[in-house]
This record gives sequence, structure tokens and C-alpha cells, in this order.
Amino acid sequence: MRYQVNGNTEGIRDSMLARLESLYSLELESGSFLPRELMKLLSECSCAVNREIAVYLTRDGEIVNVSVGTDCDVELTDYRLRRNTSRLSMVRCVHTHPDGDGRLSDVDLSALKIFRYDAMTAVGVKDGEPTFVQTAFLGEQENIVAEEPVRWYRVPDAAWLAQIEASDALVGREEAQAVSEGREKAVLMGIESRESLEELARLAETAGAEVVGSFLQKRDRPDSAMLIGKGRAEELARDCQALEADVCIFDEELTGIQARNLEETLRIKVIDRTTLILDIFAQRASSAEGKLQVELAQLQYRSARLIGLGFVMSRLAGGIGTRGPGESKLEMNRRRIRERITELRRRLDELEKQRAIRRRSRERNEIPVVALVGYTNAGKSTLLNALTGSDVYVEDQLFATLDAVSRRMETAEKTPYLLTDTVGFIRKLPHTLISAFRSTLEEAALADLLVIVSDGTSGEMAAQHDTVEQVLEELGAGDRKRIEVINKCDEADPPPAFPGAILISAKTGDGLEELKHAIAAALQESTAPVTFLIPFSRYGILSEIHSLGRVITEEHTENGTEITVMLAREDTERILRKYGPELRKA
Ligand code: GTP
Repeated sequence: MRYQVNGNTEGIRDSMLARLESLYSLELESGSFLPRELMKLLSECSCAVNREIAVYLTRDGEIVNVSVGTDCDVELTDYRLRRNTSRLSMVRCVHTHPDGDGRLSDVDLSALKIFRYDAMTAVGVKDGEPTFVQTAFLGEQENIVAEEPVRWYRVPDAAWLAQIEASDALVGREEAQAVSEGREKAVLMGIESRESLEELARLAETAGAEVVGSFLQKRDRPDSAMLIGKGRAEELARDCQALEADVCIFDEELTGIQARNLEETLRIKVIDRTTLILDIFAQRASSAEGKLQVELAQLQYRSARLIGLGFVMSRLAGGIGTRGPGESKLEMNRRRIRERITELRRRLDELEKQRAIRRRSRERNEIPVVALVGYTNAGKSTLLNALTGSDVYVEDQLFATLDAVSRRMETAEKTPYLLTDTVGFIRKLPHTLISAFRSTLEEAALADLLVIVSDGTSGEMAAQHDTVEQVLEELGAGDRKRIEVINKCDEADPPPAFPGAILISAKTGDGLEELKHAIAAALQESTAPVTFLIPFSRYGILSEIHSLGRVITEEHTENGTEITVMLAREDTERILRKYGPELRKA
């Protein structure tokens, strides 16, 4: 268990246990292999209880296990994700030898080989003080590279850390490469429905995995310890092993405890649907803001699960679930996560302010916004391209677009508008994502007009449409004016019935003229040119009108200022109510 001292703690005083427990909050400086304070504390405690003490350190410098043994050995822990894996476990073991001998024993060396630690270090202890330290690593063809014992204050931190990296490159390299190239074999496990699992399979493929198995155990109440029952988990472990899976992806959000328990049982990497979606988003984000938003969502999701899970996450060896936006691999250290979250929030706030300024200036110019919204893969980007002739990333993958793309358009009547394409919606869209992307999504969803694009070829069209409704509702855009569109009608035979929807094919161009007319008509409905004649005596009204809409013409006549402006119908009515209907020029 985490945060408690494991092993043979019988008869050890509480104050001593508390000192050992405090090791869990120790975070090593980067560049430190084995700090002197740690050696001193271990030696002192080891001498006081006259037993071996082992600590396990991740590459991020976190201590993930403190264990007390007997006078002659400490039970060593296996940290490999899979028994048959040839890669390093990403964890190093440092333990004391209370007999004063700092040399590694044969047992130590064979544990290094079997458990594939990053490194195995022995600290000799005499009279409560460290004496000599010896470290060994795994090398080429499983050979052990044992360094000469050094005096405890002469530990070559940099050289030994570099040796871990060298071993990492030598040991089990082919397997590591398969993971980093994204050809991970994935087994899927769901408790809800086949449809949801099928979508999960598409998500997994989009993330670059090869789905080798997919299982469903319908249950109404998820198990709090493992999501699925213990027996089913053990069965799943055998399935994963038989299918040689690298990762098991759960269709539900897992708590930190569930993820850890499942990983212990399955002995392969375990991720959930949200982590998978975040991973895809991390690969797709292209704008600066999108990248920050994804990274924030990832860190928030992880930090909420780090209690009891810090270790599981830190030993993930790479691949799906560990990728961050851009090239950087996500940092797992708690302190760094906290600092980074603060930094990301600050930078996003800045961007949000700039966006608000842009939005205000756009509102002043009264350019209406038309947003394409819809389930992922419905064909929004293709439609945007077809309507504008621009080139937006289109791919038959989920979430090809992440950042809102906007194009300036004009109706046949020369009314300008902005057409935007947004991130696709999806069922069980993670909440962390909705909040991280809130400003982007809101900007689109709170558009003057929504074009809701549905995929006519999907057997799930109605359910997908419901999801879109739900997300819009959540964003406060449930009652926006909308045009319903069924896309891909070239392949849908016959297109699904949906009263009032316009049938189109973004690919062949069918129905696009009708859609353009519908957009123009809808925009016309809400804003229209109005001409006022404002006597000079009431000059103040002019500035109010200026702030409401785009001015088309403005002329000073004998009787006052004649101004023609594009106004929303409600604004026109309000002005006339407030200042008198005689202002309007027929
Ligand atoms: P996200 O970015 O995931 O939200 O997807 P999207 O809604 O922007 O979909 P995108 O435009 O990327 O299209 C998804 C797939 O559907 C691509 O393979 C397109 O070629 C295909 N597609 C789009 N429109 C049509 C169409 O009218 N007919 C057919 N047959 N395929 C289409």
C-alpha cells in the first residue's frame, strides 16, 4: 500500500515508523541519484531497528515504497507491468545492509535481473552511519554491470543516472520501440453497451492502437474496487495475457483506486476512456490555446487521481495515455504538476482575455457567427471546406479537428458572416475536457446560428444527435436558432428520416446551395438593414446605434443624420420603443 511502511514493521516504535513514512513526501532534486540525507536517514533507522530497509524510487525522483525486512534480507517487490516483459521496470531499489557490508549480494544481483529494476543499490551501515555504496545495472544481453563500491559521500549521481538511461536503451529495446511507434495491442472492456464499446474501438484505433480483443460485462452497479468483479478481472488478466495485450482500455472513467487495483491484477497498462480521449486530443491540438487546454485537462484529470495512483502513472512506460501536447512527455511529479497547472491557468486566462477583446470587436462590427456543430466524424470539416473552398484537415478519424477554425463568408445578398468548425462532440465527453475547452466550445455554441451536422450513414444517428443536444444544453446553447443537416447522403441509401432537415453531401456538393440559402434566410431573419433619420437635436442616439450594428451608410442631411445599419430585430424594436417610431425612415 502507498503511504505506509510495508514489510516486517512489528515492534517498531511509532515515532520511527512516522520518520520512515515521511520518506513518501520526499521528492528528489532532478539530477540526484541518491541524496546523502536519504542514506543517513535510512542508515540511522536501519541500525535502530536492526533490519534491512528498502526504498523504491521512480525516474521522477518519487519514493513509491518503503519496506522493512528482517536482519538479513528485505522482501523485494516486483514492479514490472508484465511478467514476460523484457523492459526495465522504471523503478530503482535502494536498500541497506545493516551488517556494514556495502557490497551487493548474489541475491541482490539476481533480483535485479528478475525484477528488472532500473538499478539495484546497497548501502552498508555501521553504527547508524552509511559506509560504502554499490550499484549495479542491467546491460546488454542481460549482463549485469556492477560498479565498484564507493564511499557513501562519493556517489557519482550524474554517472549513475546516465547509466540508467544507457541500460534503458539496451534492454528490451525492440519492445520499447513498438510502444513508442504506437502499435500497442489493446484489449477493451466495457460494462455498458456494444455500441459504446465499438466507439471505444474507433477511438483506440484513432489513438494508434491495434484492438486485439473486446469484452462486455453488463452490470448496473460498477464494482468500487475494480469496476468489474474480482473474478472477471482475473479472467480478463488471462485474456490479456493470451492476446499479448500491452494495454487494457476501460470504457468508463476509473477512479485512482480502481486503476491501481486493475493494473495490479492485469499486470499491463490500464487506461480509461477519458485518458484515451485526452490522449487523442493531445495529438491533435494545433493552436497554442488548444495545446494549453488539452494539457490542463490532462493534468487535472491525472492529479485528481494521483492519490494512490501516483506510482502507477509514473511507471507507465510510454505510449497511449502518456502523451502530452507537442513533444513533451507529461511530467508526473506532483509538485511539478501543481506548478504547471497554475502556469497553464495563467496563460489560458491571458488568451481568454484576448479572445474576449476579439469577440467584442466582432460584435461591434456585427458579423454574425454560424457554427457547424455535430458528432465527431459527421463531416463538419469537409462541409466547411466545401462551403468555403478552404483547406481544413479532413480525415476519417475521430476528432480530426480540435481547434475552432473560422472563415469569413458572405451570403448572396452580401451579408458577411463567420463560419466556424468546432471539435466534434462525443458520448461521455469527459467533463474535464468540456471545462477545459469551455471557452472554445462556447464561442461556437453561442453562435448566432447553429448548423447541426449529422452523419446519415451512421446507424447511431439518432443517439449521436441526442448527445449533441446534451452538450449544447450543457453549454447553455440548447435554444439557439438552428438548421438541421444530414450529411453523407451520397452514401446513405435511403437517408434517415429527420423532419425539416436539409439533405446534403459535403463530398459531392449536393444540397449545398439549399443549405446556403437556408443560412442566408436565417441570418436575414435575425438582422436586417434599417434606416433611421435622427434629428440633430437628438444626436446622442447616434452613438447608441453605432454600438449596436454594422453601419452601411451614414449621411448628414438638412433634417438630421440619415443612417442605415444592420440591426438585430430585437435591437431595432427596442430603439423604436425607447426613442419613438418616427425615427425610422420608411
Ligand atoms: P471531427 O473533426 O472528428 O469532428 O470530424 P468532422 O465532423 O470534421 O468530419 P470530417 O470532415 O473530418 O469527415 C469525416 C469523414 O467523413 C472523412 O473521411 C470524410 O471524407 C467523410 N465525409 C465527409 N462528408 C462526406 C460526404 O458527404 N459523403 C461521404 N461519403 N463521406 C463524407
